[in-house]
Amino acid sequence: MLERTLVLIKPDGVAKGLIGEIISRFERRGFNICAMKLIKISRDKAELHYEEHRSKQFFARLVEFIISGPLVAMVIEGPGAIKNVRHMMGPTDPAEALPGTIRGDYALNISRNIVHGSDSLESANREIANFFKSDEIIE
Ligand code: RTP
Ligand code: MG
Repeated sequence: MLERTLVLIKPDGVAKGLIGEIISRFERRGFNICAMKLIKISRDKAELHYEEHRSKQFFARLVEFIISGPLVAMVIEGPGAIKNVRHMMGPTDPAEALPGTIRGDYALNISRNIVHGSDSLESANREIANFFKSDEIIE
């Protein structure tokens, strides 16, 4: 099924100079980029983005990190994009991620795991709307 998902290159990925590398992987796989921007997000937007984690002990740390520097937000489209993009990223904890995945190649720390990908259709729709107006998404 043709899906859209929100991908973030988090502040650690931007700081490590990995923007081009990460975008290239999605392009070479055949995904379509429908929207993209480099931004430093507000605390409000960060808290909305991670609202399902509000009750977790790591929530404050997560929000501080995601607002700590610029990130790249993209809408990526393609068959099974939600699951396939997360497969390309590897597991949340980079210590468990295989080489060949983004986290397996570029990260070691669960709090600094380079990328975000929406985990369901419902999350994707909510997260895309938090980052992009409808006229910023190319049909
Ligand atoms: P993401 O949302 O960033 O794509 O990551 P994910 O779905 O693989 O993981 P999720 O459970 O949604 O967690 C969101 C982010 O919170 C940080 N985290 N820290 N135990 C911890 O300290 C812990 N657990 C999760 C990670 O940076 C994760 O990406
Ligand atoms: Mg998640």
